[in-house]
Amino acid sequence: MEKIFITGVSSGLGYGLAKVFLEQDAIVYGISRRAPEDLIDLGLKHRCVDLRQEDTGKETVSSMLMQVDCFDVVVLNAGKLGQIRDMGATPLVDIRDTMELNVFANKWLLDVLFSNSRSIAQVIGISSGASKSGSRGWNGYSLSKATLNMLIKLYAAEQLDTHFTSLAPGLIDTAMQDYLTQLPADARYAPLEILKAAKGTEAMPDGYRCAQKLIPLLPELLEKESGCYADIRNL
Ligand SMILES: NC(=O)c1ccc[n+]([C@@H]2O[C@H](COP(=O)([O-])OP(=O)(O)OC[C@H]3O[C@@H](n4cnc5c(N)ncnc54)[C@H](OP(=O)(O)O)[C@@H]3O)[C@@H](O)[C@H]2O)c1
Repeated sequence: MEKIFITGVSSGLGYGLAKVFLEQDAIVYGISRRAPEDLIDLGLKHRCVDLRQEDTGKETVSSMLMQVDCFDVVVLNAGKLGQIRDMGATPLVDIRDTMELNVFANKWLLDVLFSNSRSIAQVIGISSGASKSGSRGWNGYSLSKATLNMLIKLYAAEQLDTHFTSLAPGLIDTAMQDYLTQLPADARYAPLEILKAAKGTEAMPDGYRCAQKLIPLLPELLEKESGCYADIRNL
């Protein structure tokens, strides 16, 4: 039976991934601050963790995984967007908070996951087209996802028995998109119009349907160079 570890399983893409893997009879470990009771009923092994709290987070994840000696797939999915606004108008405290969750938590998590000689076949860091586009207004989010891509590349150079990919999952109809698509039209932040047009269409599936598309693509990613960036829309 496959063993899977996913962060951010209480909503959106992480919830969808956990559900699809559980439906495939995988053993799924998941963390998030809120507990997804319906997934726990389906067998999800869950701990409530605030990934911005390194010390307590490390302790909880280490004890959760005490008996686990390998993972087939680890998905570093938990993330936050922050507010769309100009870089110059964004307080550093906001950017630090975004970096803490979208980047630094994944650093200590990978260290915990690789401890005790645990083997991991594949790591997917959920990235974003924003890591490349640098669109005006996407401030700390773009910075954090670009840094996540590099974090994944750096771990790939060290952990030669594990395959790493930074994967942009395309548009997904989640809380993040609810926020983006209710923002007023603003000529400074051009992608908002594209997102508003995509909401409610096939171009923006919900987390479950995105997971159904993403999971079958995981073996294909193994053929790419470890540490690279890929976009689901180009696979
Ligand atoms: N939606 C899109 O169109 C889109 C596009 C490209 C990339 N992505 C990426 O896809 C990933 C999932 O996003 P989503 O759209 O599914 O967002 P979402 O619905 O807001 O889900 C975010 C998940 O992260 C968890 N999380 C947030 N803060 C956390 C914290 N401090 N500690 C632990 N867990 C935390 C949340 O759980 P709790 O609140 O319970 O902690 C939730 O389960 C993100 O990395 C995002 O950047 C999304």
